[in-house]
Amino acid sequence: MMVCEYKPGLEGIPAAQSSISNVDGQKGILEYRGIQIEELAEKSTFLETAYLLIWGELPTSEELAAFEYEVRYHRRIKYRICDMMKCFPESGHPMDALQASAAALGLFYARRDLNNPIYIRNAVVRLIAKIPTMVAAFQLMRNGNDPVRPRDDLDYSANFLYMLNEQEPDSLAARIFDVCLILHAEHTMNASTFSARVTASTLTDPYAVVASAVGTLGGPLHGGANEEVIQMLEEIGSVENVRPYIEDCLERKSKIMGFGHRVYKIKDPRATILQNLAEQLFAKFGQDKYYDIAQEIERVVEEKLGHKGIYPNVDFYSGLVYRKLGIPTDLFTPVFAIARVAGWLAHWKEQLEENRIFRPSQVYDGKRGIPYMPIEHR
Ligand code: ACO
Repeated sequence: MMVCEYKPGLEGIPAAQSSISNVDGQKGILEYRGIQIEELAEKSTFLETAYLLIWGELPTSEELAAFEYEVRYHRRIKYRICDMMKCFPESGHPMDALQASAAALGLFYARRDLNNPIYIRNAVVRLIAKIPTMVAAFQLMRNGNDPVRPRDDLDYSANFLYMLNEQEPDSLAARIFDVCLILHAEHTMNASTFSARVTASTLTDPYAVVASAVGTLGGPLHGGANEEVIQMLEEIGSVENVRPYIEDCLERKSKIMGFGHRVYKIKDPRATILQNLAEQLFAKFGQDKYYDIAQEIERVVEEKLGHKGIYPNVDFYSGLVYRKLGIPTDLFTPVFAIARVAGWLAHWKEQLEENRIFRPSQVYDGKRGIPYMPIEHR
């Protein structure tokens, strides 16, 4: 067997052969199934993009209508899931609530049949349909309210914003939210996707696959960064404070949230689109002082760290967009999960098509041959 050098974080080591998405980090290109993200953001919808990612081709109008219908039909969650969520502590993080409820779906749809395309399709539809309902339900229940039932006359994104805010959203706001979901739907072999594929490779059920990916996405070095970006903007408080704040971070060698990426060495194309969406929202619904602070941070960080290839990533501007859409800060990462479930499911399906269980090796650097010391002699 070939002996490989150990690379912390598996940097640069392919963990799968995949045809789902592709990133060119030097040129700032992201493609889903060969289609550039800018084109999908302009012309597609989240559900059409999810279909593209999972089944490999853009759907015909009949295929899309059937998929949209099925997702609409499966939006509701069982009252027992709601009862379970009611028992979660209000102070718990919504990502933990989502991880627990995604895993709980496996209790209700337990007859695993991974070789059956109908089982695969139903699992995809249920997860895409129910995750937004579970995120919105926890948000309402932790505030002492009953969850809002999904509305069949609203499309995917409008319905989520409706369930969250208990009122029908503005059409621009709903479209912008849908574009955010497209932008976050998939991104090659990141930590949560890797986690999903490792879990999938054991042939467990798709609800466990998604629950493990949700758990991985929650960390501040991954999906949790956009929450921390808002905290940083609040802490900085004014444009004048930006330079001393960044200089202090760099002196203390602490990371600036929303910047840097393992793959992109220039500005993440999703950050550029999100910045544009933020500007559209501010033009319609009023400016946000944090946007001026964010732009100044981008200028100062580029000046200080541009030579290292550190530029805004997807998380830098997404928080500003979500804030303007009325989404609470600690729901930013669950919203990321609503989108990324499409990518995780595409990887789940791809992993099953040519499965081999993940079982990497390690470089052991511990002791050997140590005799057992009886407790009274330690
Ligand atoms: N702020 C300051 N310096 C940074 C940052 C940052 N945000 N990111 C990287 N650097 C510096 C590192 O200090 C290091 O410098 P050095 O070579 O002088 O030691 C160099 O750039 C390389 O950084 P690594 O941490 O080794 O890069 P890695 O690829 O391991 O990490 C990561 C990528 C985790 C995204 C990192 O850039 C980071 O922690 N960013 C902040 C958190 C964040 O925004 N995460 C969201 C990423 S996008 C997503 O997951 C959806």
